[in-house]
Amino acid sequence: MSTLDAENLFTGPIGEEYGMLRLICPNAAKLASRLGQYVGGWRTPGPQPEHLKVLEIGCGTGVSALPLLSCRDDLQLLALDSSAKMLDQAKLNLARWVDSGRVAFVEADALECLKAQEAASFDVVASNYATHNFLDDYRQKVVEEIFRVLKPGGLFLNGDRFAIDDPAEHLKLTQSEVRHWFKTFAALNRYDLLEDWVVHLFSDESPEHIMYFSPGLERLRGAGFDPVRVEYREGVDTLVAAFKPAR
Ligand SMILES: C[S@@+](CC[C@H](N)C(=O)[O-])C[C@H]1O[C@@H](n2cnc3c(N)ncnc32)[C@H](O)[C@@H]1O
Repeated sequence: MSTLDAENLFTGPIGEEYGMLRLICPNAAKLASRLGQYVGGWRTPGPQPEHLKVLEIGCGTGVSALPLLSCRDDLQLLALDSSAKMLDQAKLNLARWVDSGRVAFVEADALECLKAQEAASFDVVASNYATHNFLDDYRQKVVEEIFRVLKPGGLFLNGDRFAIDDPAEHLKLTQSEVRHWFKTFAALNRYDLLEDWVVHLFSDESPEHIMYFSPGLERLRGAGFDPVRVEYREGVDTLVAAFKPAR
């Protein structure tokens, strides 16, 4: 396994059978629709641009790109992911929007791709269930780059797992989540995927990766976002809207 594969397990069997996430974490798909609803109702400050330019970080198979593209006709999406397996599925799932020229895909590392974008070039940067996968110091750099590429008044909308600040409470919740996985995968006789998701969870929950709720919000404020609003939170599943000040 290369370093990249070890860091991004979506290049492996999990990527091939990503639809299983709906069974093990139904809230990920729910958060994806909330992303679409939010952007659908949001207007940039000042005169409206002809196209709302949106960058999605970690588009995966298109679960979160779909509600974004469906929520308004003026939205142009640049969907990035580092896993070719996930992008191949996204291109099939979003074929309608590929044909109409409203979505373009980039196979790239998030930080590298952000660094290659011009400053103040996007109205919205969106992400669903991707940033919790990042190493913490990498995540810091990604947040700084998101701030840079957003236009003044722009929105960073992040639906993701933000760990509960109290580690004991967080552990209890994670343990009950794992018990649920065992029941789900045993019923499907898919111990192979159970193994992969448990290994993946070890990475997400490790001290180098885990994204705690309050420090996660503080990091956004530290990068210059103001206001930073929690639009939804159930367990660890959270939708955060962070705004780059208009001037
Ligand atoms: C849990 S999936 C979420 C996919 C999609 N947003 C959704 O809601 O279903 C996380 C995605 O982030 C991608 N990813 C993880 N680390 C990345 C990185 N450093 N750069 C780009 N993409 C990354 C993975 O390949 C994967 O497709």
